[in-house]
Amino acid sequence: MSLNPSQIANEKRRLLHHEADVVVVGAGIFGCAAAFAFANQGRSVLLLERSLEEPRRIVGELLQPGGLSALQKLGLGDCVKGIDSVRVDGYQIIYHGTPVDIPYPENEHSKRPVGTSFHHGRFISQLRRACASQPNITIVETEVTDTITSTCNLQVLGVKSRTTNLETSDKKEDYYFGDLTIIADGYASKFRKQYIKRAPVVKSKFYALELIDCPLTAPNHGIVILGSHAPVLLYQIASTKAGGVRSYFRKIVLPSLPLQMQPCFEKALEDDKIPPSMPNSFLPPSTQGEKGMAILGDAMNMRHPLTGGGMTVAFNDVVLLSDLLSPQRVPSFADTAAVQKAMKDFHWKRKGLSTTINILAMALYSLFAANDRQLEALKSGTFAYLARGGNCRDGPCSLLGGIIKQPFLLSYHFFAVALFSLWMVMRETIGSVLGFWKFPLAIKESVLVFWRACVVICPYIFSEMRP
Ligand SMILES: Cc1cc2nc3c(=O)[nH]c(=O)nc-3n(C[C@H](O)[C@H](O)[C@H](O)COP(=O)(O)OP(=O)(O)OC[C@H]3O[C@@H](n4cnc5c(N)ncnc54)[C@H](O)[C@@H]3O)c2cc1C
Ligand SMILES: *[C@@H]1O[C@H](CO)[C@@H](O)[C@H](O)[C@H]1NC(C)=O
Repeated sequence: MSLNPSQIANEKRRLLHHEADVVVVGAGIFGCAAAFAFANQGRSVLLLERSLEEPRRIVGELLQPGGLSALQKLGLGDCVKGIDSVRVDGYQIIYHGTPVDIPYPENEHSKRPVGTSFHHGRFISQLRRACASQPNITIVETEVTDTITSTCNLQVLGVKSRTTNLETSDKKEDYYFGDLTIIADGYASKFRKQYIKRAPVVKSKFYALELIDCPLTAPNHGIVILGSHAPVLLYQIASTKAGGVRSYFRKIVLPSLPLQMQPCFEKALEDDKIPPSMPNSFLPPSTQGEKGMAILGDAMNMRHPLTGGGMTVAFNDVVLLSDLLSPQRVPSFADTAAVQKAMKDFHWKRKGLSTTINILAMALYSLFAANDRQLEALKSGTFAYLARGGNCRDGPCSLLGGIIKQPFLLSYHFFAVALFSLWMVMRETIGSVLGFWKFPLAIKESVLVFWRACVVICPYIFSEMRP
């Protein structure tokens, strides 16, 4: 590709003077997508990453249909190719041994949307490769240590970093400047504390195991296994492999797995060096008024990984953000006020999708990891509701897949599940016509169940309404 003189000048400014329109910190899911989107709009981009080696963590294996279509919109659809990724047609939920299939529902053109699953590290490498071949991006392997802020108007001007010389292992300080600095340094963000008032809450941990050649009960599906243990997720991440979960697992999880998967799970438990656990965090989104800077991706907003929604939120955020910051709307990122205004719009406009996925993930996890009688009732109610099929199955599945972006519909299904559970509790408590004298007890139990449902979801709804 031949470059025009202004592109050559921009590249020189990035390489020699470490200056660009936008400095992106972190070449992960959000950072790569954002760098690519801005570069395609003609911006000059510096993408800074601590380690360009292929990541090995298990932290994002299933991409929902709503995330895949955002990825394609960004022109990055090819990144899921050539990595032995697997098509995902929907979910299978196995509750105390009983399976229910939940395919992604047909859209208005009678086509079923699909998601995909893969090795996270391979996917990240593909995203980085796409950025490396985009002439308006320069990727630098360097660890960002601080932001640089103007003392006169508190505008963030860029970042300070530490670069290791790979031959001598010497470290040297570097500085990178941009009209806009986007920080997307992930779940353990170093910069969040400084700029965002909220802190992530970690309520549970995630253990992962890679199963090899595991016969699946439902190929091309995300499999969720529920019982009296914590939820177990199985994703098929390559044509011959399935990534999944783990030591209390030998005693508790192993017996709950479908028989055909047990030998393979046992083998993985013996062979695999068990990777360290990952925290499952909750961090509600917040607006930021900083001049010249924004913190985005997992650094700004996180939800439980149960529903595999993080990357879908990230890619949809990039689609929206690059639209709000397009050169037609904001010709130059040096126009700080215009960028700040766009960031404020972004906070509210992203809610259609992100609120749905955030609340769904947190509420479902609360039900699925049930530890009291009312939550148990809601858990079996959820399962029975999904098993009814029709809209009871398709509605929640579209929300989960990021296909429908309507928070209102989520509340509708949530309260429908609560009422359905309440009815099931009434029926069970009374038992038969002769049980009519248990009526007051049934009323009491169902009030408690409904109350519990409200206690589960309301805090998450409120957390999304704050600026
Ligand atoms: C256990 C678990 C399972 C998950 N499963 C799924 C799933 O199945 N599907 C799904 O969609 N989502 C899943 N997620 C969520 C998903 O991983 C995140 O939402 C997504 O990776 C967020 O992208 P990000 O760019 O914000 O952060 P990351 O992808 O983590 O990227 C951050 C990048 O910044 C770099 N970095 C950090 N600090 C610095 C620094 N100081 N200087 C330079 N670079 C730095 C890091 O090296 C990294 O490359 C899961 C999350 C967890 C915890
Ligand atoms: C890179 O930026 C220039 C403007 O500097 C723009 O004309 C060009 O289309 C961009 N290149 C690509 C491949 O997007």
